[in-house]
Amino acid sequence: MISDIENLKDEIKKTVITDKESLEAFRLRFLSRKGKLQSMFGNMQNVPKKDRSRVGKAMNEVKELAETKFNTQKKALQNKKKTRFKATDDLTLPVSPEYAGSLHPLTQTENEMKNIFLRLGFDVADGPEIEDDFHNFTSLNFPPDHPARDMQDTFFIRKSDKKEVQDLVMRTHTSPVQIRLMKDQPPPIRSVIPGRVYRNEAVTAKSYFQFNQMEGLYVDHKVTMGELIETLVMFARLMYGSDVKYRVRPSFFPFTEPSIEMDVWWESDSDGQWLEILGAGMVDPNVFEACGLDPETYTGYAFGMGVDRIAMLRYGINDIRILYENDIRFLDQFTG
Ligand code: DAH
Repeated sequence: MISDIENLKDEIKKTVITDKESLEAFRLRFLSRKGKLQSMFGNMQNVPKKDRSRVGKAMNEVKELAETKFNTQKKALQNKKKTRFKATDDLTLPVSPEYAGSLHPLTQTENEMKNIFLRLGFDVADGPEIEDDFHNFTSLNFPPDHPARDMQDTFFIRKSDKKEVQDLVMRTHTSPVQIRLMKDQPPPIRSVIPGRVYRNEAVTAKSYFQFNQMEGLYVDHKVTMGELIETLVMFARLMYGSDVKYRVRPSFFPFTEPSIEMDVWWESDSDGQWLEILGAGMVDPNVFEACGLDPETYTGYAFGMGVDRIAMLRYGINDIRILYENDIRFLDQFTG
């Protein structure tokens, strides 16, 4: 009898559990009412009285062994379910499209905007997110006491080594890249510049300390305001459909003169409203001078658009924070 018990112990130890099926087979073979343990307990009456306590103890040990194995393997299988791979999977196979990622809605919107401007003859440029005061403010004709330089709007960075201390900023807009382009290459320049910008603002459903813009710059001889408006209208039509309702209003920016803003009419359920999608204007002569270009020789236009606003309108998102939280349940909706 004792040797039977030892054999059963071995058998339990050697039985491999890898999945739900083998777990259930284990249970039926050893632990169920018709299983080997029950039938062994049933044999107890054949054991001579003097051996009963020794045999009973051995049997209880085997029972415990089987139960512990069953419970730990069951738990392990439940945890394993959370991983996507089985030990038998071929890990060298190409990735299953079932698990392919998706482009972030901001990336999708930015790509679409870029493609529109590529069609209109622009190229795509970029620039650094950490800027100095000259590129972010001074060269763009911001007066020294302009409120946008205030601590409330700008994240400042102090860079210091043994020799000098330099104050830098997280760029508050993509406009500094205009300056870099004009300083780096002779006109004609016709570029859009998508990128992240930063402002020291309270986080709410409508504002975030980081967002995305797309800057545009066209510099050549005899560029006109008419061309600017024509280009923006073309953009609005390609982005929102040819029946888009838009309006252009006069505005002010330090780096353009004259300056305008463009709104599109946004229809929602029963009513609608005008929503601002961009600022623009003719490059201010002071900006040309800061870049070493002669304002008598060159003219140009510039514009700046909010990518987040355009993405939110497009997908009906009413809280900007969702765009930056990377919640899989949100992102999964943008596959395909
Ligand atoms: N830089 C402006 C902002 O962040 C947007 C802007 C307005 C850009 C007019 C331009 C422009 O290039 O011409 O609000």
